[in-house]
Formats: sequence, C-alpha cells, structure tokens
Amino acid sequence: MTVDVVLGTRPEIIKMAPVVEALKAKDMDYRIVHTGQHYDKNLSENFFDDLQLPRPDAFLEVGSGSQSEQTAKAMMLLEKDFMDFPPSIVLVQGDTNTVLAGALAGVKLGITVGHVEAGLRSYDKRMPEEYNRRVADHISDLLFAPTPGSVKILEDEHIWGEIHMTGNTVIDSANLYAPLAEENSSILEQAPDEYILVTAHRAENVDDPEVLKGLVHICQNAPMPIVYPIHPRTVKRLKEFGMYEGLSGSSNVTLLPPVGYFDFIVLMRHSGLILTDSGGIQEEATAESIAKKVIVFRQNTERPEAVDSGHAIIGGTDPTTILALLNENLDTPVPTTETPFGDGKAGERIVGICQSKMSN
Ligand code: UD1
Ligand code: UDP
Repeated sequence: MTVDVVLGTRPEIIKMAPVVEALKAKDMDYRIVHTGQHYDKNLSENFFDDLQLPRPDAFLEVGSGSQSEQTAKAMMLLEKDFMDFPPSIVLVQGDTNTVLAGALAGVKLGITVGHVEAGLRSYDKRMPEEYNRRVADHISDLLFAPTPGSVKILEDEHIWGEIHMTGNTVIDSANLYAPLAEENSSILEQAPDEYILVTAHRAENVDDPEVLKGLVHICQNAPMPIVYPIHPRTVKRLKEFGMYEGLSGSSNVTLLPPVGYFDFIVLMRHSGLILTDSGGIQEEATAESIAKKVIVFRQNTERPEAVDSGHAIIGGTDPTTILALLNENLDTPVPTTETPFGDGKAGERIVGICQSKMSN
C-alpha cells in the first residue's frame, strides 16, 4: 500500500513537498521517485535540503534531451521502477515531461494515477506543457483540481477520472516556508535595495531569438534595477544567440544562478514587481505570505485566476508594452484579495483522498 510521489523538476519538488509532509503526518508508506529531468544541484538537490524532504528513493537519471527522447526514457525507467516496487497509487504533479511519462507508465500497468494540479489549459499549441497536462488529465484516475475554474474545464472535457477540488499545493508551500525563508536567507545582500524580480525560461520564449532579444532589452532599460536568477535553458540560448554579455554586462542587471526556495521567496517578498513567464510564480504571488503584482511575460496563461484576483497582468512579450507596464505598475498597490488557489491545505486533502481510495 505505497504511494509513489513522482517528480523530476524544480517546481514539482516544491509543489510535491506538502504532499510528502501529509504522507509523513499520516504515517503512510511512500516512495519519492525522481526522474532526474532536472539534475543540477541548484534545480534539484538544494530543494530537498530547503524543504527538508527525504532524499529520493530512486533517481532515474533521465537527464536532458529532445521532448520525445526525454519523455520516452522517463517512461521506460518509471515503468521498470513501478514493476520492481509496485505502488498502489502514483502521484504526478503539473505539466512536465516527467508528468506525461509517469501518468502513462502508471495507467498502462493498471496502477491508480492521481494528477495533482489538474485542469489547467493555456490553449497555446506552442507549449509542450499543454500536451502533457491534457494527456495526463485524460488518462488519470484521480484529478486534483486547484480551483472551480479547473474543475469546470475537466467537466467540460468529460474527463474519465474522479475530480476533486483541492486547492494548489504551492500555497501550502509558500505559507509554510515563508517564515523560515526570512530567517534562513541572506540573498538580499546580493540585491540592490529596490528591484524588479525577473525569471524567464519557457521554451516558446527563450528558444525564440526575437523574444529573447526583447527580454534583454527590457532588462537593460527597466525603470528599476533587475534581479534575475537565471534558468540554465536561458543561459544556453543567450550564449547560442550571442546575447549573454549584453545581459550579464548591463549595469541595470544583477544576474544570479538559480537560487534556492528560501532565497527565492525572500526575493519575491522584497521585490517592487515581478516579471515572469513561470507558472508557479504567478500562483505564489497571490499567496498572503508573498502578495506581489506580476507582469506575465507571455501571450496567455493557464492561471486566469491570478488575473481575476488582480495579482497578474498578461503583458505579452513586446518590449515597448512590457516597459510601459513596468512603469505603470511599480507604484500601484498590491491587491489584498485572497489567493484564488486554495487555503494552504491542498497536500493534506490530496493525501486524505488517496488514503480513502486505498482503504476501499
Ligand atoms: C522543464 C519543464 C517546464 C518547467 C521547467 C521548470 C517540460 C517540457 N518542461 O523545462 O514545464 O517549467 O522544467 O523549471 O517538461 N538543464 C540544465 N540542468 C538541469 C536541467 C536542465 O542545464 O538540471 C538545461 C539543459 O540544457 C536542458 C535545458 O536546461 O536541455 C532544458 O531542460 P528541460 O528539462 O528539457 O526543460 P526546462 O526548460 O527545464
Ligand atoms: N524558484 C526558485 N528559485 C529560482 C526560481 C524559481 O526556487 O531561482 C521557484 C519559484 O518560487 C516557484 C518555482 O521555482 O515555486 C517555479 O519554477 P519554474 O519557474 O522553473 O517552473 P514553472 O512553475 O514555470 O513550471
């Protein structure tokens, strides 16, 4: 009667941490199975330390590769792991290649699969994540949807599995770790007094030289200094396109390696504004413990709830528009509306549902 918690990337570690905490609290048997999609210390191991998670029971060393190569390798290795250590339930989280691989490998072995963060849609065909989450939703047995909007999407698509509205586990994490973050982080020593926090790593942005050139221009000309903990995918593309020096050499930009969760929470909390294409950051910004305004560096979002609550603005990727939005929003008050992503008890709820399924 084991629950397998499958994860592979930075956001999955952060968002599965509350699930692991709840499994521990209920004294249930579980295994953490890490595909190794992310393998750098600062995208993986450091998060196990910050979040005080047990080390993975299996690390499958899938590594980087093309979309199909990475997904196929993860499927093969997960299938073997599930056969060697048969779980009662496999939990996957989000929309990465690890999620697609875990859900497919699980259902094909007849294992109950639960999809955490089900029912999100960007309707953007350029995004690999859109295919991953759609397939994961349609094949999973248990759909843990964060909001009423995501429940409705799943119902309208006539999903086969059982839908449960749970909230998003990222709110559990933000609330749980924000006080610890302030105590444990000294990251502000590396940042100017006032700054705009930037992250961008989405394939449809950073793999496109025009969009990336625009982002460099935005950072160089922003109305407040930029702090940018940069994802390795973006570094790789900047170097390939000959744009790295333009960003790293700008006096307006503090470029950091990807930082740990405590450091990132502190950077969010003390920023004037956030500019990002990240999914998780759009959600975290609505948490009471973070409460920031976010300009979304994308044409669309699968998290419209953050726009409705007044925390997020979809900015697109045009540099002139983004610079105008940064100027306009620097001095506007942060919305005081409650987060639309749940009450911080999503992990507990998800594990409670798994427990009741296993005792049936
Ligand atoms: C993946 C997810 C994305 C998620 C992001 C979280 C998919 C399709 N994409 O994107 O949804 O938002 O993780 O950060 O699953 N690299 C390293 N070190 C690492 C890992 C990656 O240097 O530890 C570099 C490699 O050059 C690699 C590139 O980053 O080719 C992209 O990594 P990959 O896992 O394919 O996708 P992400 O862009 O990280
Ligand atoms: N994050 C972090 N350090 C960083 C950048 C982000 O800890 O340098 C955290 C952030 O708080 C959020 C998650 O990583 O919880 C988001 O990950 P990412 O943007 O890579 O993925 P996405 O959410 O877009 O899938």
